[in-house]
Amino acid sequence: MKKYRVGIIGSGFIGSVHVEAVRRLGLGEIVALTEKQDAKGKAEALYIPDYFDDYKKMIDTKELDMVHICTPNNTHHEMSTYALKKGVNVICEKPMCRTIEEGEDMVKVAKETGLVNAINFHNRFYPMTYEMKEKIKMGQVGDIWSVHGVYLQDWLFHDTDYNWRIDPAFSGSTRAVADIGSHWIDLAETVTGLKVVEVFADFATFHKTRKKSLDNIAFSKEKSDIYEEIKIESEDHAHILLRFENGAVGNAVISQVVAGRKNRITLNVDGSEEALFWTTDDLNNLWIGHRDSSNEILTKDPSLVSNATIKQIAYPGGHAEGFPDAFKNNFRAIYKSIEDKSSPIEYATFADGLREMKICDKIFESYHTNKWVKVDE
Ligand SMILES: NC(=O)c1ccc[n+]([C@@H]2O[C@H](COP(=O)([O-])OP(=O)(O)OC[C@H]3O[C@@H](n4cnc5c(N)ncnc54)[C@H](O)[C@@H]3O)[C@@H](O)[C@H]2O)c1
Repeated sequence: MKKYRVGIIGSGFIGSVHVEAVRRLGLGEIVALTEKQDAKGKAEALYIPDYFDDYKKMIDTKELDMVHICTPNNTHHEMSTYALKKGVNVICEKPMCRTIEEGEDMVKVAKETGLVNAINFHNRFYPMTYEMKEKIKMGQVGDIWSVHGVYLQDWLFHDTDYNWRIDPAFSGSTRAVADIGSHWIDLAETVTGLKVVEVFADFATFHKTRKKSLDNIAFSKEKSDIYEEIKIESEDHAHILLRFENGAVGNAVISQVVAGRKNRITLNVDGSEEALFWTTDDLNNLWIGHRDSSNEILTKDPSLVSNATIKQIAYPGGHAEGFPDAFKNNFRAIYKSIEDKSSPIEYATFADGLREMKICDKIFESYHTNKWVKVDE
């Protein structure tokens, strides 16, 4: 069996998760890493045999089958279009890029090359979010009436918390919405099979200025006392009302400043037959609500879920599967597309990434115009 030659660009938080997932799947060999900071040290730490400080050199010399783009959002457009034009399949991190124009170009280049183009909306691939989708597809939930939930984090709670995501030049026009709201909306649309058609949003920026550490100890327990005061333009927190194509109503609260919520996603889907609830805080269980009988908890167990979901479960019941496993499931589906172009695509493509970019743009417009804004197809 062919082992794909894989290159990784960026090995901060998420690049290392990609490395681990590719290795667990066993279908690719990671032949090189590109890193801007200490490429040699990072490659050694991850046991990657070759390293570069320029992604173009890696793509030009390493005969890659797949490149994983795990760098800040401002780099995604140039890196992915370069790779595709050189004949390399691409898995790019979310959000897809910074602007609709960049996104449209990425979709155009992907279409022209016919290569695999994927965005890492991995939340689609938790066994129990996949099972939610299957139950809805089979009609068990009935007509969908409402879809609601949250994506909450606290890593930007203090005014001394700073990261590249705060700067629109790196992140794009929205921050919390692009960074984690895009995940929630992709999940809600994928699970329900319904498109969002209209949005209304309210934003809040609690820290009007932030203290950017000048001695590079962001994310550390240690506190710096050398700061630059930065005026903040992007939102810490967003409330979004949603309307779906079937008339269902929805809402999402998206925040990076809720104390104690480290990475909490909730998704409720309320239907005419039953209601479903899933959360990352208990991600191996799916709550199923009934009006006329006891509620149920469906536990991740290959012997209990629908047939389609079994492929997303690696271990027997009672053995937890979480964040890294969702990446593994997503990458398995994506790599399969290299060989089998006709296999149904369940992962997010660049077209899906562009759709999320457009929805985030409309959310931004709604906040600034104080109006409901329609989302075009
Ligand atoms: N799917 C998810 O759940 C998820 C989670 C976290 C981050 N992300 C996405 O992944 C991307 C990276 O986020 P992160 O949290 O890992 O950031 P990070 O800051 O931890 O890591 C980014 C890395 O990229 C490197 N880098 C920057 N520019 C580069 C360049 N031109 N060439 C080579 N290396 C370069 C940096 O040195 C750094 O090591 C972002 O787009 C983010 O939105 C996705």
